[in-house]
Amino acid sequence: MTTDLDGCISKAARILRESRYVISLIGAGISAESGIPTFRGPDGLWTRLGEPSNNQYQHFLEDPKAWWRQRMSAQASGGNSHWDNAKPNPAHYALAELERIGAMRHVITQNIDNLHQVAGTRGISEFHGNRFKMRCIGCNRRWDRAELELTAEAPPECPDCHGIVKSDTVMFGEPIPPDAISRSFEEAEKADCCLVIGTSAVVYPAANVPLIVRRNGGRLIEVNPLETPLSDVCAVVLRGPAGEVMPAVVEALRRQGNETAATAG
Ligand code: OAD
Repeated sequence: MTTDLDGCISKAARILRESRYVISLIGAGISAESGIPTFRGPDGLWTRLGEPSNNQYQHFLEDPKAWWRQRMSAQASGGNSHWDNAKPNPAHYALAELERIGAMRHVITQNIDNLHQVAGTRGISEFHGNRFKMRCIGCNRRWDRAELELTAEAPPECPDCHGIVKSDTVMFGEPIPPDAISRSFEEAEKADCCLVIGTSAVVYPAANVPLIVRRNGGRLIEVNPLETPLSDVCAVVLRGPAGEVMPAVVEALRRQGNETAATAG
């Protein structure tokens, strides 16, 4: 890491220490070092395959059974090894550690990969759902996938409201689940600092989270090897891969805490 990046890491740690309520907005970049491709950029999924159409959810609603059958047969023929074999990387563990020591309160993730939870994060809102969960589109009740008996023929029916149960993962054109959106914006209103890690910050409404923090006078810390539309308004930008930068931030926070204790003593 360059000296300049070291200086930025120290500054980020200082901001985290000075802040009263820190949250994080996370994107696909944090899981890149776990082997999951991002969406945009040179090797991004959408760059290679094209962005799905915005009427994906509409198609699902028109014929949920056909959609379900197609998904179940795709899964039966092999699943998706990137996702299935992914494990948390040092950035996920660093975030969980920040929460454990009280330096960060809530993670708002756009990722569906469940890696934050595996790493130990507890306070989390999943803006775009979770691939290991199912959700009723009528009443929003969720289940772990393993809790439901899934057949190849049709999506399950909600035992509470008889609504259609689909994967919790949000489709293109599908409304963001109301509980995730309301909790995320409540957290954003409370925060005076937002760590923005591994997101291109171009997909709304998630990209509103750091803008709310900033509008309320809070500071933004960006962790991303590349520039984003937020970079110019950040208090500090850490230009590097999250798996290297985030453990260094935790380490700097510890060092500064020890230095303060030594001075006080
Ligand atoms: P993007 O693919 O748009 O952006 C990923 C960001 O991660 C880019 O800014 C990269 O520069 C950065 N990046 C790459 N490697 C990194 C690393 N090792 N450490 C840190 N940053 C790194 O992904 P998102 O911003 O998450 O929605 O995209 C938002 C939403 O768009 C996704 O949730 C998905 C997509 O359409 C749905 O599928 C509903």
